[in-house]
Amino acid sequence: MPARRDSASQRENRSMENRLPRQPEESAKRPRRAHPTARDLERYAGLFAARTGVMRSSAMRDLMAVTARPEVISLAGGLPDTASFPPETFARQMTKIAQKSAAEALQYGPTEGFVETRECIREVMAAEGMRVDPADVLVTTGGQQAIDLITKTLVDPGDVVICEAPTYPGAVPSFCSYQADVVQIDVDDQGMRIDLLERELERLDGEGRRPKFVYSVPSFQNPAGVTMSAERRVRLIELARERELLIVEDNPYGLLRYEGEPETPLYTLGGGEYVIYVGTFSKILSPGIRLGWVVAPPPVLEKIGLGKQATDLCTSTLTQYFVREYFAEGHWLDYVRDVAEIYRRRRDAMLEALERHFPEQATWTKPQGGMFVWATLPDYIDTEDLLAKALREDVAFVPGRAAYVDGRGASSMRLNFSGSTEDEIREGVRRIGRVVGEQVALYETLTGHRVVRDEPPPEPGERADVLPLHPRGKRRRK
Ligand SMILES: Cc1ncc(COP(=O)(O)O)c(C=O)c1O
Repeated sequence: MPARRDSASQRENRSMENRLPRQPEESAKRPRRAHPTARDLERYAGLFAARTGVMRSSAMRDLMAVTARPEVISLAGGLPDTASFPPETFARQMTKIAQKSAAEALQYGPTEGFVETRECIREVMAAEGMRVDPADVLVTTGGQQAIDLITKTLVDPGDVVICEAPTYPGAVPSFCSYQADVVQIDVDDQGMRIDLLERELERLDGEGRRPKFVYSVPSFQNPAGVTMSAERRVRLIELARERELLIVEDNPYGLLRYEGEPETPLYTLGGGEYVIYVGTFSKILSPGIRLGWVVAPPPVLEKIGLGKQATDLCTSTLTQYFVREYFAEGHWLDYVRDVAEIYRRRRDAMLEALERHFPEQATWTKPQGGMFVWATLPDYIDTEDLLAKALREDVAFVPGRAAYVDGRGASSMRLNFSGSTEDEIREGVRRIGRVVGEQVALYETLTGHRVVRDEPPPEPGERADVLPLHPRGKRRRK
């Protein structure tokens, strides 16, 4: 049968259809592609800013999609235990806000944040012995925005930013998106190696380059869990004075200490002149309220404020009201103590499980606070490959490479202990231990030799991604 010829009007209608935007129901039926195709990329490539070429995705954000499955035990995120926050407290504050100040709480607010919020921040910093004038504080949408705004304010493409190795994986995308030249300085169990920092500053000096800032998480570092010693803190501030350097102290975990004596914050040592301080309510109250802050010398703070105006006008008024009401009840530190006690038990569960289930070739940090343990496996194990295997066992961690800009960290992993119950932690570590054990056994079978780990640990700094830890022989086996 000859093909039926379409009438001109039918053809016209069809070509109109092709030109018209698709109806919502129809486009809803089209499966959304998870990744753009080469053709999609080609279509937009000429429009992208140069900086997008070096933008990186945060490993944790990518992992969140996978770990959202309820059967997965995620030791990957940095999630605080928000279930421990009393719902009735939350309800009480929100009811008060609705009754007393609904219109104001639903309105825009000042870019720098409300005076009352900055007063709460003064209290939080005072709990760690810091004295701050609320006028020097700018409220931000989480500590993450503070890192981003600081970088936006100080960094031109190609400028040097110095950070720790490993560093907070969430800072890497910020530094990269402003096209910073990121230099990483090894950490050991005393925090950033200030001797190596000095050497690097000399080298940069020889090239006529001055870093825009040194970024550090000195207490219970994310990801390594280590804390900078008092001696190194003092030397770092001396260096800042000698060389007119700005230090960015990012301190979300300082109040989450489970043992030992607190170290003096860099902010206190630097007298507010050389240190830009970043804080957050995320780990002491809730990350969902997206409230953080930055304290900086006035000329720097002013520029950061201008950057924030362009970014989001102001931080959530509603959650600032929540913090105001919550602090007015006067018990915020009790909750911090309660949650720290929960995390201390979870940390202990993780350290015990690592002793029990990880092979003797592995090493790991023993944090005195915070939320993370950093484990390092034999260098023939790549933790990105290992993650794929671990996910098949429904358990996740952050592969170490996410904490470096230069591809190091391949045999390390970050393990979080704040976001899972003690039982989940034991089971999660058992599953990871099993896949690690399989890799070790495979390697030993293929190479025909068993790695005996009795050689002395590497000199500090010799291997950037292996922290010198307790020698293996001294560890108690259960
Ligand atoms: C070191 C460090 N800085 C900043 C942040 C960002 O926190 P937020 O934006 O929730 O305040 C985190 C979160 O895990 C962190 O670990």
